[in-house]
Amino acid sequence: MSIDHAAAPLTSGERHTAAPSATGLVVRAARPDEAQELSALALRSKGWWGYSASFLRACEAELTLTEADAARCVVIEVDGVVAGFHLLSASRGRAGVDGDGSAVGELVMLFVDPPFIGAGVGRILFEDARRRAAAAGWARLQIEADPHSRTFYERLGAVQVGERLSRSIPGNSLPLFELTLRAPGGGRMVARATYWR
Ligand SMILES: CC(C)(COP(=O)(O)OP(=O)(O)OC[C@H]1O[C@@H](n2cnc3c(N)ncnc32)[C@H](O)[C@@H]1OP(=O)(O)O)[C@@H](O)C(=O)NCCC(=O)NCCS
Repeated sequence: MSIDHAAAPLTSGERHTAAPSATGLVVRAARPDEAQELSALALRSKGWWGYSASFLRACEAELTLTEADAARCVVIEVDGVVAGFHLLSASRGRAGVDGDGSAVGELVMLFVDPPFIGAGVGRILFEDARRRAAAAGWARLQIEADPHSRTFYERLGAVQVGERLSRSIPGNSLPLFELTLRAPGGGRMVARATYWR
């Protein structure tokens, strides 16, 4: 697959102003006015696992993006259609700084729209997030994962390091994964996984 990454700035605040390509894959910064569309995509995507309507209603608040959130998202378009997005943030768990002083980031959201699931879109988004997280100088990336997505994250090199309580479903715990981006105490990148075949 050929991907147009030129449209995906690495520095926050930089916006993509060029018109999206009519065909192919484009990874680009999301716009604030896409908040509603991306929130709806996240809910559809979560629903892919077959959760009940009441379960999904309970998740809705957590999956609803503000315009400010949307402005920090990265979307992937397939032939001009938004097929998925990711959202990165400094880690909420440890205020962005680990015990050894290294910065830690979090992959807060990664959702693929159901018609595009299983076609490699998630891998492209994850790789883009990994690249941006490394560029931000984070040593590790944390991922509070839906249990159904466990194999996906393991496939891409993340390792389960614990569990976190769900913010949407009282009593539910979610697997917490981590992806190492930099060796502890050093600046060298660690190849913990093959991201591209
Ligand atoms: C999880 C998700 C992001 C994966 O995206 P995707 O585009 O379907 O994944 P890809 O097609 O890029 O798959 C990448 C690799 O993961 C594997 N994989 C993906 N989903 C998998 C699953 N449910 N079970 C087992 N393996 C899976 C693929 O086989 C592939 O491995 P391979 O290339 O070695 O064969 C997508 O299914 C999704 O959005 N699900 C609903 C929402 C969700 O749970 N998001 C994560 C929130 S934490």
